[in-house]
Amino acid sequence: MNTDHDPPGPEAAAPAVRVRGLTKTFGGHRALKGIDLDVPAGHVLALLGPNGAGKTTAVRAITTLTRPDAGTVEVAGHDLRRNPGGVRASLGLSGQYAAVDERLTGHENLRMVAMLYGMGRKEARRRSWELLRRFRLDDVAHRRAGHYSGGMRRRLDLAGALIADPSVVVLDEPTTGLDPRGRMDTWEVIGGLVSGGTSVLLTTQYLEEADQLADSIAVIDRGEVIARGTADELKTRVGGERLELVVEHAADLETARAALLVAGSGPPDSDPQARRARAAVTNGRKALGDVLTALDEQGVPVLDVALCRPTLDDVFLELTGHHTGDDGADAGPDAGADHGGEARP
Ligand SMILES: Nc1ncnc2c1ncn2[C@@H]1O[C@H](COP(=O)(O)OP(=O)(O)OP(=O)(O)O)[C@@H](O)[C@H]1O
Ligand SMILES: [Mg+2]
Repeated sequence: MNTDHDPPGPEAAAPAVRVRGLTKTFGGHRALKGIDLDVPAGHVLALLGPNGAGKTTAVRAITTLTRPDAGTVEVAGHDLRRNPGGVRASLGLSGQYAAVDERLTGHENLRMVAMLYGMGRKEARRRSWELLRRFRLDDVAHRRAGHYSGGMRRRLDLAGALIADPSVVVLDEPTTGLDPRGRMDTWEVIGGLVSGGTSVLLTTQYLEEADQLADSIAVIDRGEVIARGTADELKTRVGGERLELVVEHAADLETARAALLVAGSGPPDSDPQARRARAAVTNGRKALGDVLTALDEQGVPVLDVALCRPTLDDVFLELTGHHTGDDGADAGPDAGADHGGEARP
């Protein structure tokens, strides 16, 4: 068993992150209701959930930025309460909102972070350039970060999280707000970290992203983990593909629903305003053919048809009976507020 007094060796064998019963209340609002999370060494765990689910609160507690009300957190074998310094030294954080100093250039930002981690001037310089090149920021290294695009800031922040080469990296919505290219680049960087042996805890609102990056997923809703598994397990649980139809006339929506009910594997969900109906299907191509034939026979014009993979919203609807955007009684009045000025641990 590892303790805080062990030499560095055994750290490698400790789980990267182990969380038990993590609880946090803001005023009367229970943002975390006792969650458990495990990131085995070298793994990527995605904490997947909609706005206000508690992702940032969990990240802030694990990274020592918020004091939890109850529960235990261990990072690389260090207990958060007994040895917060050990926790901080083991991890790199990239928060939901990029923490860069807008007055400094990209290079100066990274050099400053490196020196805060105790590196000498020369080493800080070397490490800063290494990361600027890795994140394709070397061309803009001498431009003030205040003039960077959103994607550049995100990459600079991510680079800052890696300065001290931490064994555990925590990324809060690393790709939210990035364009497709920026998202692909970030996925590549995360993939690179993992192949280098780094353990990653990341949060996301996208099942697709969790699917791409994570070894396993914990789905969080209103402060509780409501499901765990691999992306495939979750998708199987919610019934594979979805067949979605948009009819030309609102009056035909019921007929479309009826056709989906016959061909699909679950009750259809519909949106009258968008004249759209959607249902889970087990054999997508066959269901697609059957539904289009049935509607054609009944003279129903179809504007659009698509076979889609399940989204986070589908997972939610299946697991909780409500959509991700539905405001439950439990959702805070100011979801998403108070994240300004994130600091590095
Ligand atoms: N400092 C705070 N004071 C009061 N309430 C807070 C505070 N921080 C978070 N909350 C509330 O706790 C709940 C969880 O918020 P949190 O930021 O952890 O959600 P999230 O999953 O990160 O959402 P998002 O996807 O929007 O970033 C929300 O209802 C939020 O309003
Ligand atoms: Mg958040």
